[in-house]
Amino acid sequence: MKILVTGGAGFIGSNFVRLILSKYPDYEVVNLDLLTYAGNLENLRDAEQNERYRFMRGDIRDEAIVNEVMAGMDAVVNFAAESHVDRSIGGPADFIQTDVFGTFVLLEAARRHGVSRYLQISTDEVYGSIEDGTFTEEDRLEPSSPYSASKAGGDMQVMAYHTTYGLPTLITRSSNNFGPYQYPEKIIPLFITNAMEGKELPLYGDGMNVRDWIYVADNCEGVDTVLHRGEPGQIYNIGGGNEKTNLYITKKILEILGKPESMIRPVADRLGHDFRYSIDCSKVKALGWEPAHNFEEALQETVNWYLDNRWWWEKIKSGEFAQYYQRQYGEK
Ligand code: NAD
Ligand code: DAU
Repeated sequence: MKILVTGGAGFIGSNFVRLILSKYPDYEVVNLDLLTYAGNLENLRDAEQNERYRFMRGDIRDEAIVNEVMAGMDAVVNFAAESHVDRSIGGPADFIQTDVFGTFVLLEAARRHGVSRYLQISTDEVYGSIEDGTFTEEDRLEPSSPYSASKAGGDMQVMAYHTTYGLPTLITRSSNNFGPYQYPEKIIPLFITNAMEGKELPLYGDGMNVRDWIYVADNCEGVDTVLHRGEPGQIYNIGGGNEKTNLYITKKILEILGKPESMIRPVADRLGHDFRYSIDCSKVKALGWEPAHNFEEALQETVNWYLDNRWWWEKIKSGEFAQYYQRQYGEK
């Protein structure tokens, strides 16, 4: 199988490319990535020598390049997106451009080239916040942020291309991922690396917002399950079943690193901050997938990875991220 992975130089995409290359010895992967601030070729250094892997720098909004790389592909897995909620609040335009228009460009090319699988990587955030209970794939979309609205816009187009043109589409909506190679703007890597650097941990509001955490390897296995066994036209939620408050996560990170809770700095809440995400994953489980990692063990492994790979994140934190952090949190 020849798979076009878009956004494969980002956090989840790079973990997915690594999984596919090691799990399927006869598969070929082309990785199309624009290398925005979040894209990093160092995430896939180990794949560079693999003859079955090819990287191409390019924009999913660029029709010419997308058509060029789509030729001869059996499947497309679209991870490419602007992915950070806080950045979408500060400046939504890129989110609409990439997550909505970029998805359209990919769908058109997939239709033209007759690919046999188009898998859109979406998010549990498209359902919005839920106080009690869990969302199934049938629930209506009620996104709260420019980010989640742009992802919902992508999903709507994917569904329309299935209904109108019969494109064999699939959508996965996963919960919050964590693990190696996650850009340190997201809460878990930000708090691990800040604690390691002796910086405060900026916790939004009262810290009681809830997210369902999934180890990135489990999400990648879920995406692979849907890619191979999912039914065209269907949507699959992929969650870890680990609903935790942000305060719990923060204290756990400090405990693992042996740092004091006085490093927590309560800061102003995120605008439109969703209180809780929760998804029902029985549909993907019926395909034979289950998360394999225990949350506490996977968090410990993740902390170990950031301890062992300072070379990876120190470069990021002193680069583009430094200005972003100053703007966002008002300090260096
Ligand atoms: P990320 O920000 O780490 O990576 C995104 C990648 O997309 C980067 O490599 C970037 O260079 C690339 N990209 C951005 N715009 C592009 C464009 N116009 N053309 C080509 N490439 C472009 O994101 P992530 O956390 O790995 O998320 C990957 C996908 O999973 C996204 O679609 C996101 O919405 C979704 N998702 C993420 C999470 C999570 O917890 N991180 C959870 C659910 C869903
Ligand atoms: O639910 C899936 C989504 O998870 C993905 O679709 C997004 O791409 C991904 O970024 C993530 O979105 P969140 O907004 O949930 O993740 P983030 O790490 O930004 O924030 C997690 C929680 O932690 C959220 O309630 C806000 C809070 N937070 C975050 C940061 C960065 C803080 O309290 N302080 C912080 O500095």
